Amino acid sequence: MEFIKTTIMNDHKLRLAAFQDEDVALFEEWIDKEYIYKWFCCDGKEGEQARIGGLEEKRDWLDLVREREENPHIHLYIVTCDGHKIGFCIGIDLFGEPKYTKDQYPDLSGKLSQGEAIELGYCIGEESYLSKGLGKLIIKLLKKECCDLGASLVLADPSEENVPSVKALLSNGFEKYKDGDYRKQIVSNKTSTCSVV
Ligand SMILES: CC(C)(COP(=O)(O)OP(=O)(O)OC[C@H]1O[C@@H](n2cnc3c(N)ncnc32)[C@H](O)[C@@H]1OP(=O)(O)O)[C@@H](O)C(=O)NCCC(=O)NCCS
Repeated sequence: MEFIKTTIMNDHKLRLAAFQDEDVALFEEWIDKEYIYKWFCCDGKEGEQARIGGLEEKRDWLDLVREREENPHIHLYIVTCDGHKIGFCIGIDLFGEPKYTKDQYPDLSGKLSQGEAIELGYCIGEESYLSKGLGKLIIKLLKKECCDLGASLVLADPSEENVPSVKALLSNGFEKYKDGDYRKQIVSNKTSTCSVV
């Protein structure tokens, strides 16, 4: 496994690695968990009806991870903690998604260059690792990775009800642009050494 980014917290080593074919089954297991499914597939709704309603979204996610080589503007990662696979992340170069950008970030539509703005997504798939500060660290690693990819803006679109996600973004210096739209400017390493706080 080739590691892309590493950080240490209380002697625990947290790392980002490129998503591989062997990770698809694990990702499917994680996305099926209620506390992830509700945010990844059904806008925070829970229950049987919501689960059925989210099936198409789940299929889209699985297609995306399986066919990732067809979409080089989408970066996928596995997070490891002390060598155990614990989570999944995604970074989408919005330049490669003009329709989505127009719908979700109309003020940026048509104004972005390739690699300039990356939208993040993340989850911790192993419950025993939740609420230990790792979500905040994962976002920190993702900011560094975006910087190395040359981005100057990172974004995330958590539901306002998703308190851990919103808090993890705020504590990483993201600012609320509007409901469900959090942003942080970073200094791209295209122009200087990466410095991300
Ligand atoms: C979002 C997620 C990655 C956060 O990771 P985490 O490791 O659990 O969060 P952290 O321990 O880093 O805590 C982040 C903040 O949320 C708070 N928090 C953590 N768990 C919480 C909970 N269950 N309820 C309320 N607040 C919580 C922490 O106190 C911290 O706040 P602080 O900055 O004020 O100290 C994780 O909850 C997750 O995978 N959720 C499911 C998938 C998901 O929602 N992904 C995001 C979609 S936008």
